[in-house]
Amino acid sequence: MTADVLIIGGGIIGIATALELTKAGVKVSVVERGICGQGASWAAAGMLAPQAEQLTGDLLTLGIKSRDFYPQWIKEIQAITGQSCGYWCCGILAPLFNGEVTPSEYYRDRSQLLQRQPELGEKVTGGMWYAADGQVDNRLLMQNLLLAARLKGVEIQEGVNVVGFNSSNGKVASVQTAQGELVAGHYLLAAGAWSRELLPVPVQPRKGQMLSFFDPHRRLRQVIYAPGAYIVPRQDGTIVLGATVEDVGFLPGITAGGINSLLSNAIAVLPFLADLQITETWWGFRPHAPAEIPLLGATKYENLTIGTGHYRNGILWAPLSAHLLSRWILGQLDDPLVQEFLPLLQGKV
Ligand code: FAD
Ligand code: GLY
Repeated sequence: MTADVLIIGGGIIGIATALELTKAGVKVSVVERGICGQGASWAAAGMLAPQAEQLTGDLLTLGIKSRDFYPQWIKEIQAITGQSCGYWCCGILAPLFNGEVTPSEYYRDRSQLLQRQPELGEKVTGGMWYAADGQVDNRLLMQNLLLAARLKGVEIQEGVNVVGFNSSNGKVASVQTAQGELVAGHYLLAAGAWSRELLPVPVQPRKGQMLSFFDPHRRLRQVIYAPGAYIVPRQDGTIVLGATVEDVGFLPGITAGGINSLLSNAIAVLPFLADLQITETWWGFRPHAPAEIPLLGATKYENLTIGTGHYRNGILWAPLSAHLLSRWILGQLDDPLVQEFLPLLQGKV
């Protein structure tokens, strides 16, 4: 089958855009060199946290718009699959310590704070509260996105490594894979932290180590976003703790220092974590781009679009990125959101 659009990379950006394109009746193929949804989109914590992450300027605008997309986007995906994506608008609490005060502080009174979240460490004296921030279980979301995409006719080929583009007259003529050439009308490069292997774009890996616990008592009621550690409760009692940010290339593995710093920062905020069993450790590679601005839209090839560089917020930005990328690929430049982010989309890489 020759696709209208061929997407390289089966992470959240590739699959969400594929699903969005099917709404316009487009024939979409995705090629993934490993297993779809096992890159950064699997490793993430799934926080939807434009405010807790202290985004500013255009990144905050992108983040808040995308966070607003979430309820409807999840509803649409779940309507196709009939399964939960683990979306939970649980709010995010950012603790303040030892009498520290900030202008936007929400909780000044520890006893009030303890009503929101019991069992906080003694040094926590106040907190910021971001009621509209929340989370999605990114692994469940990826499973649902993949199922929805397949049900909507997206052809997904796993174990196919794209090794380069064949081009002529400023256009991509085909992509070269270990199994031969693949041809489409338009191509989307959504290869996350690995995108630079295929196009000279300024995307670099930033490793994040993570771990999880299981709390049978489900004592954590919302995300805690503390200095040096964030703590994310899933509705099934899993607690996800993250994450380091390391400039070590694609060096795999968990380190004692990485896990030690996460645990000590987290236990200072929630001492009961010290008694829980660790159920899993893992790591992943965020796609970092200069100034942390995602690379979306035009490339030097007329029929090649890029969608990468989502760094710390790719789960958050996925619905908005999929909207922008699909309209851009379809040439729907009059779309109001495309108009709003046109300088970003036109910034050729
Ligand atoms: P990926 O999910 O990495 O997918 C890229 C895919 O492309 C991979 O499957 C890869 O195998 C494939 N690929 C690469 N090269 C080729 C090739 N040559 N041929 C074929 N396939 C190829 N974001 C949030 O919003 N909230 C969070 O709480 C959050 N926490 C995070 C915590 C950690 C530890 C990490 C690592 C990331 C976190 N992120 C978070 C960021 C988010 O996970 C990423 O921004 C997002 O997943 C990027 O999605 P992607 O589709 O671009 O990349
Ligand atoms: N957004 C959380 C992280 O990237 O670790």
